[in-house]
Amino acid sequence: MKYITLETIDSTNDFLKDLKRNNDIENYTVVVANNQYDGKGQRGNSWETESNKNLTFSMFIDNFSLATTSPFLLNNIISVSIVEVLKTYNIPKIQIKWPNDILIGNKKIAGILIENSWQNNHSFFSIIGIGLNVNQCIFENLPKASSLALVLKKELDKTILLKKICNKIKENITFCTTKNSYSFIENYHSYLFKKGIPSVFINTATNEPFQGIIQGVTNFGELKILLENETVALFKNKEIVFYY
Ligand code: BTN
Repeated sequence: MKYITLETIDSTNDFLKDLKRNNDIENYTVVVANNQYDGKGQRGNSWETESNKNLTFSMFIDNFSLATTSPFLLNNIISVSIVEVLKTYNIPKIQIKWPNDILIGNKKIAGILIENSWQNNHSFFSIIGIGLNVNQCIFENLPKASSLALVLKKELDKTILLKKICNKIKENITFCTTKNSYSFIENYHSYLFKKGIPSVFINTATNEPFQGIIQGVTNFGELKILLENETVALFKNKEIVFYY
């Protein structure tokens, strides 16, 4: 696996996307930045991170073959891979908040931004951007953020962690494309935040709160929620937010 380490960059996702457009790059190439000053998050948000403390990196995945039948599978695999690696550090209460935030308890420690680009009519590539809070200990104005160091009460070696996560992603993608992808959706469900628990959500179109119980996600990444009227509704990313 090829690693490119940058001292400072606006966004590792944008850098890797440009690199790919102008060059032939190996599948699983990883770009990691010590200081990312204009990181992009989901829903048009930015991703703030303290220099040198955390992992901000992007991985290039070429033409993920299962994407047509299961567009959400890559999200499943990436989230589950991060959880599997973090579990080896004996971190308790790790969960995946749909669609792909990684939480410890109620606090977010990692975010994932997957961007797909078509290269021609037949094939596309994915840029998997991961921001993982590792050794940062102060999160001003971010009461729902935390880091591994805050939970474990010690600093971690970022490079070792980076390699473990990238190797795990590659291993899991290979497993899914050559053997069985079903187990990943099951694993994703087993770590899913608030699954089976009555919870409150906000409908972003109406701004109205509503109650429901998460049942799981579809292959297309929609969240299945059992509503109070006993029907199951499907929600796309951005259509609801969690109230917690
Ligand atoms: C989220 O909103 O939770 C997703 C955050 C993704 C942040 C990562 S940091 C590395 C990569 N480069 C970016 O500009 N964003 C992603």
